[in-house]
Amino acid sequence: MAEMLVAYFSYSGNAKKIAQRVAELAKADLFEIKPKEAYSTDYQECIEEARKEVSEGARPELMEKPDDLSKYDSIVLGFPNWCSTCPMVILSFLEAYNLAGKKVYSFVTNGGGGCGNSTADIKNSSVGAEITESINGNDLTDDQIREWLGI
Ligand SMILES: Cc1cc2nc3c(=O)[nH]c(=O)nc-3n(C[C@H](O)[C@H](O)[C@H](O)COP(=O)(O)O)c2cc1C
Repeated sequence: MAEMLVAYFSYSGNAKKIAQRVAELAKADLFEIKPKEAYSTDYQECIEEARKEVSEGARPELMEKPDDLSKYDSIVLGFPNWCSTCPMVILSFLEAYNLAGKKVYSFVTNGGGGCGNSTADIKNSSVGAEITESINGNDLTDDQIREWLGI
Protein backbone atom coordinates (compact mmCIF):
# COMPACT_ATOMS: atom_id res chain seq x y z
CA MET A 1 0.00 0.00 0.00
CA ALA A 2 1.39 3.39 -0.99
CA GLU A 3 2.17 5.52 2.03
CA MET A 4 1.47 9.22 2.17
CA LEU A 5 2.54 11.96 4.55
CA VAL A 6 0.58 15.18 4.95
CA ALA A 7 2.96 17.85 6.28
CA TYR A 8 1.55 21.29 6.93
CA PHE A 9 2.32 24.69 8.34
CA SER A 10 -0.57 26.88 9.41
CA TYR A 11 -0.53 30.27 11.11
CA SER A 12 -4.21 30.94 11.66
CA GLY A 13 -5.70 27.45 11.29
CA ASN A 14 -7.03 27.31 7.72
CA ALA A 15 -4.35 25.03 6.27
CA LYS A 16 -4.44 22.92 9.43
CA LYS A 17 -8.14 22.19 8.98
CA ILE A 18 -7.69 21.10 5.37
CA ALA A 19 -4.55 19.10 6.18
CA GLN A 20 -6.44 17.16 8.83
CA ARG A 21 -9.22 16.37 6.37
CA VAL A 22 -6.77 15.33 3.62
CA ALA A 23 -4.97 13.00 6.04
CA GLU A 24 -8.27 11.50 7.13
CA LEU A 25 -9.49 10.88 3.57
CA ALA A 26 -6.12 9.58 2.35
CA LYS A 27 -5.43 7.55 5.50
CA ALA A 28 -2.11 9.38 5.62
CA ASP A 29 0.20 10.34 8.47
CA LEU A 30 -0.06 13.96 9.57
CA PHE A 31 2.85 16.17 10.61
CA GLU A 32 2.80 19.83 11.65
CA ILE A 33 5.79 21.85 10.43
CA LYS A 34 6.66 24.44 13.07
CA PRO A 35 9.55 26.88 13.19
CA LYS A 36 11.79 26.72 16.25
CA GLU A 37 11.15 30.39 16.78
CA ALA A 38 7.42 31.06 16.46
CA TYR A 39 6.27 33.87 14.20
CA SER A 40 4.82 36.90 15.95
CA THR A 41 1.19 36.58 16.97
CA ASP A 42 0.78 40.18 15.83
CA TYR A 43 -0.41 39.97 12.21
CA GLN A 44 1.47 43.03 10.96
CA GLU A 45 4.68 41.96 12.67
CA CYS A 46 4.28 38.49 11.22
CA ILE A 47 3.97 39.97 7.75
CA GLU A 48 7.20 41.89 8.33
CA GLU A 49 8.94 38.71 9.51
CA ALA A 50 7.69 36.78 6.51
CA ARG A 51 8.76 39.50 4.08
CA LYS A 52 12.22 39.56 5.59
CA GLU A 53 12.53 35.78 5.31
CA VAL A 54 11.55 35.84 1.66
CA SER A 55 13.90 38.67 0.79
CA GLU A 56 16.79 36.96 2.59
CA GLY A 57 15.97 33.50 1.22
CA ALA A 58 15.89 32.35 4.86
CA ARG A 59 15.53 28.71 5.88
CA PRO A 60 14.22 28.96 9.46
CA GLU A 61 15.13 26.12 11.77
CA LEU A 62 12.33 23.67 12.51
CA MET A 63 11.10 22.73 15.97
CA GLU A 64 11.23 19.05 15.01
CA LYS A 65 11.07 16.88 11.94
CA PRO A 66 10.57 13.21 11.10
CA ASP A 67 13.90 11.31 11.08
CA ASP A 68 13.41 10.21 7.54
CA LEU A 69 10.68 10.05 4.93
CA SER A 70 11.84 6.92 3.16
CA LYS A 71 8.63 4.98 3.80
CA TYR A 72 6.51 7.58 2.03
CA ASP A 73 5.84 7.47 -1.70
CA SER A 74 4.09 10.80 -1.70
CA ILE A 75 4.07 13.96 0.37
CA VAL A 76 1.20 16.41 0.55
CA LEU A 77 2.25 19.87 1.69
CA GLY A 78 -0.28 22.31 3.08
CA PHE A 79 0.46 25.95 3.87
CA PRO A 80 -0.81 29.50 3.49
CA ASN A 81 0.30 31.80 0.71
CA TRP A 82 2.77 34.12 2.42
CA CYS A 83 4.08 37.02 0.36
CA SER A 84 3.08 35.30 -2.89
CA THR A 85 4.91 32.05 -2.15
CA CYS A 86 5.12 29.38 0.54
CA PRO A 87 6.36 30.24 4.04
CA MET A 88 10.13 29.67 4.13
CA VAL A 89 9.71 26.90 6.75
CA ILE A 90 8.25 24.76 3.97
CA LEU A 91 11.51 25.06 2.06
CA SER A 92 13.49 24.30 5.25
CA PHE A 93 11.45 21.10 5.56
CA LEU A 94 11.91 20.04 1.93
CA GLU A 95 15.64 20.72 1.90
CA ALA A 96 16.16 18.54 4.98
CA TYR A 97 15.44 15.37 2.97
CA ASN A 98 16.34 13.40 -0.09
CA LEU A 99 13.03 13.42 -1.94
CA ALA A 100 14.22 11.65 -5.08
CA GLY A 101 11.46 9.51 -6.58
CA LYS A 102 8.70 10.93 -4.41
CA LYS A 103 5.61 12.68 -5.64
CA VAL A 104 4.88 16.02 -3.98
CA TYR A 105 1.46 17.64 -3.90
CA SER A 106 0.64 20.97 -2.32
CA PHE A 107 -2.41 22.99 -1.42
CA VAL A 108 -2.29 26.66 -0.58
CA THR A 109 -4.75 28.58 1.58
CA ASN A 110 -4.74 32.24 0.66
CA GLY A 111 -6.37 35.61 0.94
CA GLY A 112 -7.10 35.91 -2.79
CA GLY A 113 -3.59 35.55 -4.19
CA GLY A 114 -4.00 31.89 -5.11
CA CYS A 115 -0.85 29.78 -5.03
CA GLY A 116 1.59 32.56 -5.95
CA ASN A 117 5.02 31.22 -6.93
CA SER A 118 4.82 28.25 -4.60
CA THR A 119 5.09 25.50 -7.24
CA ALA A 120 8.32 26.89 -8.68
CA ASP A 121 9.84 27.53 -5.26
CA ILE A 122 8.96 24.04 -4.06
CA LYS A 123 10.47 22.58 -7.23
CA ASN A 124 13.77 24.35 -6.58
CA SER A 125 13.95 22.85 -3.08
CA SER A 126 12.98 19.27 -3.97
CA VAL A 127 15.70 17.84 -6.18
CA GLY A 128 14.64 14.63 -7.92
CA ALA A 129 11.04 14.69 -6.76
CA GLU A 130 8.03 14.87 -9.03
CA ILE A 131 6.33 18.14 -8.19
CA THR A 132 2.70 18.64 -9.07
CA GLU A 133 1.23 22.10 -9.55
CA SER A 134 0.03 23.61 -6.24
CA ILE A 135 -3.73 23.91 -5.93
CA ASN A 136 -5.87 26.54 -4.21
CA GLY A 137 -6.65 25.15 -0.76
CA ASN A 138 -9.50 27.47 0.16
CA ASP A 139 -12.79 25.59 0.59
CA LEU A 140 -11.58 22.27 -0.81
CA THR A 141 -14.40 19.73 -0.78
CA ASP A 142 -13.96 16.04 -0.05
CA ASP A 143 -14.66 15.21 -3.70
CA GLN A 144 -12.06 17.72 -4.89
CA ILE A 145 -9.50 16.26 -2.50
CA ARG A 146 -10.19 12.71 -3.71
CA GLU A 147 -9.97 13.68 -7.36
CA TRP A 148 -6.78 15.72 -6.82
CA LEU A 149 -4.93 12.89 -5.09
CA GLY A 150 -6.52 10.06 -7.06
CA ILE A 151 -7.76 8.33 -3.90
C1 LIG B 1 2.65 36.77 6.78
C2 LIG B 1 1.46 36.63 5.90
C3 LIG B 1 1.58 36.89 4.54
C4 LIG B 1 0.49 36.70 3.69
N1 LIG B 1 0.65 36.93 2.35
C5 LIG B 1 -0.38 36.69 1.50
C6 LIG B 1 -0.23 36.87 0.08
O1 LIG B 1 0.82 37.27 -0.43
N2 LIG B 1 -1.30 36.59 -0.72
C7 LIG B 1 -2.49 36.11 -0.21
O2 LIG B 1 -3.41 35.85 -0.97
N3 LIG B 1 -2.66 35.94 1.13
C8 LIG B 1 -1.65 36.21 1.99
N4 LIG B 1 -1.82 36.02 3.34
C9 LIG B 1 -3.11 35.50 3.83
C10 LIG B 1 -3.07 33.98 4.11
O3 LIG B 1 -2.55 33.27 3.00
C11 LIG B 1 -4.50 33.45 4.38
O4 LIG B 1 -5.07 34.14 5.46
C12 LIG B 1 -4.51 31.94 4.66
O5 LIG B 1 -5.82 31.44 4.57
C13 LIG B 1 -3.98 31.62 6.04
O6 LIG B 1 -3.87 30.21 6.22
P1 LIG B 1 -3.56 29.64 7.70
O7 LIG B 1 -4.81 29.93 8.53
O8 LIG B 1 -3.37 28.17 7.53
O9 LIG B 1 -2.37 30.33 8.25
C14 LIG B 1 -0.76 36.26 4.21
C15 LIG B 1 -0.86 36.03 5.60
C16 LIG B 1 0.21 36.22 6.42
C17 LIG B 1 0.05 35.97 7.90
